[in-house]
Amino acid sequence: MNKIINFWNGRSAMNYGIDLLGLKKNSIILLPEIICDVAVKVFLNKKLRVKFYKLNSNFEPIWSEIDKLKSKNISAILMVHFFGYPQKHKKFLKFAKKKNIFLIEDNCHSLPIKLDNMRLGKIGHIGVDSPRKIIDGLYSGGRLFVNFNMKISHSKIKKFETNKKDFLKLKLKQNFRNIYKYYKFKGKRPKYESPYLYSDKDSDFDIKLIDKKSLEKISRINLENEHIKRKNLYFKIDKFAKLNEMKPIFKMQRKLIPMYYVARAKNHEHARNIFNWGWNNKIQIVSWPSFYKKHRLTDKFLNRWKKYICFPLNQEFPNINEKKI
Ligand SMILES: Cc1ncc(COP(=O)(O)O)c(C=O)c1O
Repeated sequence: MNKIINFWNGRSAMNYGIDLLGLKKNSIILLPEIICDVAVKVFLNKKLRVKFYKLNSNFEPIWSEIDKLKSKNISAILMVHFFGYPQKHKKFLKFAKKKNIFLIEDNCHSLPIKLDNMRLGKIGHIGVDSPRKIIDGLYSGGRLFVNFNMKISHSKIKKFETNKKDFLKLKLKQNFRNIYKYYKFKGKRPKYESPYLYSDKDSDFDIKLIDKKSLEKISRINLENEHIKRKNLYFKIDKFAKLNEMKPIFKMQRKLIPMYYVARAKNHEHARNIFNWGWNNKIQIVSWPSFYKKHRLTDKFLNRWKKYICFPLNQEFPNINEKKI
């Protein structure tokens, strides 16, 4: 069975999906060690236990370590297509099958693009995405893809209402880009070096449905156009990144709709200078994610994380032909 339910954001869709899977309380869910605190809290709020699996520097699981985990009490593994670059899904499917656990697919950094014979979001038992993050001009939007047989009742879902502040912010962003930019980059830049920058800021985990306007807009998304827009920006940023001694982590490929261009800086100082340059030139260059605070990060891991630099791929970026940093 394939069913899609439209919610107001990705966490809502995940929340509902976990209920559908009927994961046992106190069972363990395997999450990648690089994941935002919001995604961790969705599982913890369901009284599930979380165990983090290690990733290599290309954001791929270190399977030799995962295979060693004792499988007693594990109920699911989360596969995240980080930044919108697809994971090698066959390994995940094989692992889930071998351990007889659920595969939950997180495609919140992309859209359901078709690659070979599969579609992102439809690989796991359930899949989740978050078009509100990818498509400009949406008030809300997060979808649950139910890819297995399950009776679905909509009774307990609330409606999402757009508030005046968000409405005005969106209008400003769409129609008066320069004014929006002026306010966005006013003052001191956020401390992107902090691994907990936006942690604990979100408290609304309610399950709510999408608003009507956003739903209409999502139905008109053209995946090919989105790919072309992002591809062009990807290569502009790639040129800038290489001129300034950053190393790209992911390659652009046919059809991809990534949320970020991601590179590795030489060191922490270099990363800080890149963040500063972005802020001073009103260009978004950020870190990701804001971690779950109780998840203890080792110094070695943090040193690696502090070199990652993310460029959102839904912004304007100038043509740059010389070294700037
Ligand atoms: C990988 C990942 N999954 C899920 C979410 C949750 O998506 P949303 O912000 O739409 O609830 C986020 C972002 O917070 C994310 O980065």
